[in-house]
Amino acid sequence: MALVEKKSFGMVDGIENFIYTLKNGQTEVDVMNYGATIVAIRTADKNGDIKDVVLGHDSIEDYRANTCYFGAIIGRNSNRIANAKFELNGKTYNLFQNNGTNNLHGGEFGFDTKMWAAEMADNKVIFYYTSPDMESGFPGEATIKVTYTLSENNELMLNYHAVCDQDTIVNLTNHSYFNLNGHESGTIEEHSVEIKADYYTPLDENCAVTGEVVAVKGTAYDLNTAIVLSNEIDSIPDFEISGGYDHNFILNSQKGQVKQIATVVGDKSGIKMEVSTDKPAVQFYAGNFVTESIGKNSAKYGKRSGLCLETQLCPNCQNMRHLGNAVLKKGEVYSDTTVFKFSV
Ligand code: GLA
Repeated sequence: MALVEKKSFGMVDGIENFIYTLKNGQTEVDVMNYGATIVAIRTADKNGDIKDVVLGHDSIEDYRANTCYFGAIIGRNSNRIANAKFELNGKTYNLFQNNGTNNLHGGEFGFDTKMWAAEMADNKVIFYYTSPDMESGFPGEATIKVTYTLSENNELMLNYHAVCDQDTIVNLTNHSYFNLNGHESGTIEEHSVEIKADYYTPLDENCAVTGEVVAVKGTAYDLNTAIVLSNEIDSIPDFEISGGYDHNFILNSQKGQVKQIATVVGDKSGIKMEVSTDKPAVQFYAGNFVTESIGKNSAKYGKRSGLCLETQLCPNCQNMRHLGNAVLKKGEVYSDTTVFKFSV
């Protein structure tokens, strides 16, 4: 049975922030109240040495100063909403433009910056956050619950749950930056990545989606067979815009079923991460814009120190309904699941 331990990790505006550690005897996962963030994932490599495979910081102050969303829960809406506005029930909602003219990851003070309440159970930590009506421009009071569960098989499961007292939009994800060779080991360029997606959504000059849905076949976006990133990443179409992979892939799996959608392997460690989800899409971000910073144990981070697989709805589906539907109606339940499984 996995266990949970709790220790103090600084103060946020007068409220004590804690790290909760999930342990199953092989893998340990640290999560904290601030942003309901994954702070560390420690697991064994092919030699039995323990590696911490996510980027993070040693202090809450460093987390608050960083703008890369290391490990945080993203909401009320993940990814970019073009022109930072959307229409719902005939009304236009204006959001904060925090990425050129886009709204990115819920705006300047998204869920990643909030103090979540926590509850510990056997092998789980459950985080709760109530987002007030019109917080960051989104309508309705939304009640959010995110549960982290560590299984005996080294699966870290994230269950997302939301309800709202008015119609609103909800699109939640986790923004962990994985480096399976260890967070301090340099870039992820020699990692291999496979994503089960036959279509992707190209970018406009502002890094928002154009609205086209393009087949990956015959392009550098075809990751149905694993590639080593360095073989493709600097010559992909859109490189001038995104500086490498930073794209939304439309998953082949059907929404409603938790299916394996991606596999990543660290070349030096042999650590494999399999990602499963019931969400329809994933943003594969290769960390091209990671700013230089000092991370855990004085590690030096920068461009491509980690990669993200942000399971989600298609970006900008709030304005392009052919890409999906982010509307959560009053009284309906938003619920989805993503699993990160570690092995060698
Ligand atoms: C997402 C985006 C990236 C970048 C990061 C945050 O993953 O797709 O372009 O903005 O968030 O730095």
